[in-house]
Amino acid sequence: MKYSKIEELRNQKHVHIRDWDFVKSTIENIAKDGPEKLQVVADFDRTLTKHMNKGTVCATCHRVLEEGDHLPEFFRIKATELRDIYFPLEMNPNVPVSEKIPLMIEWWTKAHDLLATCGITKQSIRKMVETSTVMLRDGCVWLFDHLHALDIPLLIFSAGIGDVLEEVIRIQATHHSNMKVVSNYMTFDECDRMVGFQGEMIHVYNKNENAIHNSDYFSNLEKRSNILLLGDGIGDLRMADGATNMTNKLTIGFLNVKIEESLELYMSKYDIVICADESMDVVNSIMKIVTAQ
Ligand code: TMP
Ligand code: MG
Repeated sequence: MKYSKIEELRNQKHVHIRDWDFVKSTIENIAKDGPEKLQVVADFDRTLTKHMNKGTVCATCHRVLEEGDHLPEFFRIKATELRDIYFPLEMNPNVPVSEKIPLMIEWWTKAHDLLATCGITKQSIRKMVETSTVMLRDGCVWLFDHLHALDIPLLIFSAGIGDVLEEVIRIQATHHSNMKVVSNYMTFDECDRMVGFQGEMIHVYNKNENAIHNSDYFSNLEKRSNILLLGDGIGDLRMADGATNMTNKLTIGFLNVKIEESLELYMSKYDIVICADESMDVVNSIMKIVTAQ
């Protein structure tokens, strides 16, 4: 097996690897076990989607609803106010997670309560996605198609909005049968108006306690004991906590903002850290190696 490609990646300035021997041997082990043993768990916003495109910040699932004039002005103003308060706190490496959790619950609760007052309809979501700046990373379509072709399960675990992210995938890629989405899904009344969200709220720091970990999802995939985890936040590292029968796990983190301040923290948590790269190139190169037959 040739690892020159991985060696090439390692030498790229924006790719940071704490323990090369561990990464190399994990990649070798996953490749040896083959696609039948592999599963992928990925976050959505700023992991499967871009943070920036041509100098402009792209929308997250929530922000899709704030763009354009689909929803009332008061919503855009209030949602922006909330993001301006809470997003810097989410991304601040000097605020401990224990302090961030109540703040994130506050943000999601306020944002979701606000959304429920806007009269969103199911049909309007597609229009909003079509005209928004949300963008899957370059190479995401290849990744989805490749995983589907090899029948490798992909769990997308998102604190965004399920109804929005599914539209993004349907419009910009294909929602394949091997993909499962766990996210915040809206509820609609009999007149098709959004009135709230289903079940337990998922925010960026409770991806370890969500219902997916008590469901059959991971136990049905017990034979797939190799996991590739993709995230952009520290909370994303808990997305595969429900998989108890794990042999090899490789975690890849996208560091999109506050790069200098956060690099040390990210390198202490993720096996591979990719800085300010809006593509899936590094992930896809690794995927090609671990699935080369
Ligand atoms: P993720 O888990 O798929 O990455 O989604 C969470 C992101 O959504 C997180 O980085 C913050 C963002 N967000 C907004 O942009 N606006 C909002 O109103 C809320 C609640 C979250
Ligand atoms: Mg994210």
